[in-house]
Amino acid sequence: MGKTLITINDVHKIYHDAGNAGIRALDGIDLTIAENEFVCVIGPSGCGKTTLLNIIAGLEPYDSGEVLMDGRPILGPGVDRGVIFQQYALFPWMTVRRNIEYGMKFLRKEPDGIRYTGAEKRALADHYIHMVNLQGFEDVYPKALSGGMKQRVAIARGYAVNPQVLLMDEPFGALDAQTRAQLQEELLLTWESEQKTCFFITHDVEEAILLANRVVIMSARPGRVKDIVNIDLPYPRSQATKLDPAFIDYRNRIWDTVYKMFLEVRK
Ligand SMILES: Nc1ncnc2c1ncn2[C@@H]1O[C@H](COP(=O)(O)OP(=O)(O)OP(=O)(O)O)[C@@H](O)[C@H]1O
Ligand SMILES: [Mg+2]
Repeated sequence: MGKTLITINDVHKIYHDAGNAGIRALDGIDLTIAENEFVCVIGPSGCGKTTLLNIIAGLEPYDSGEVLMDGRPILGPGVDRGVIFQQYALFPWMTVRRNIEYGMKFLRKEPDGIRYTGAEKRALADHYIHMVNLQGFEDVYPKALSGGMKQRVAIARGYAVNPQVLLMDEPFGALDAQTRAQLQEELLLTWESEQKTCFFITHDVEEAILLANRVVIMSARPGRVKDIVNIDLPYPRSQATKLDPAFIDYRNRIWDTVYKMFLEVRK
């Protein structure tokens, strides 16, 4: 793995506006994410996964601790971090191509800071449209796309603005199993070729193991890091990786941790 890109140091978060005592969402989160790493986060509903992602995105303040990117505090949203939500947040009045090109208008070319030309944006958009297999749908509006296709547009848009980090909050949560499997493979292929740092939330233990270099297991509210499992399965990976005995060992081990947490909460 490369150098440390994101450092999360003893982060605490209480939602003060939620009832008298407030809701303690994160209780001392420590986590570092390396450059080019693919980190998956799993944990029970309400354990603070989205809160953590929003804090890294700079969309949510926190009470104490520090969150650094490249050694500098994260103070707000920025083009260095792209967010992909579960409910494909596309602009309904823009075509597929315009949705993908939208974020590029904020882009500047290194090192001289000039804007991309229309032709350059188009070429970049074409590259990512191809990556997510949406050739032929460039001029279609979101309402004419299936859920899986909309999520593909959201992923292409996330990549097209070329952020250093992609933050994904259950991006495949709303999809059927087959579309989900297909998008997992597309995401793997993309990560294997572009090696962009990914922070990916999921409820699905198998999805986490399939994609990640490391799986972070969070415990129920208040959210803490319960365990971090290194997934030493070689890339390239595909659905066939799920048949590897090592994969099954990881699955059993992570399920065991998750199940024990469930029993503790029920006690
Ligand atoms: N804007 C908010 N105001 C008040 N409380 C909030 C807010 N957002 C989240 N919470 C609370 O903080 C806790 C953590 O929520 P969060 O959305 O981070 O959980 P999560 O792990 O993403 O859950 P899920 O898996 O269901 O998406 C929950 O108890 C939730 O009720
Ligand atoms: Mg969530």
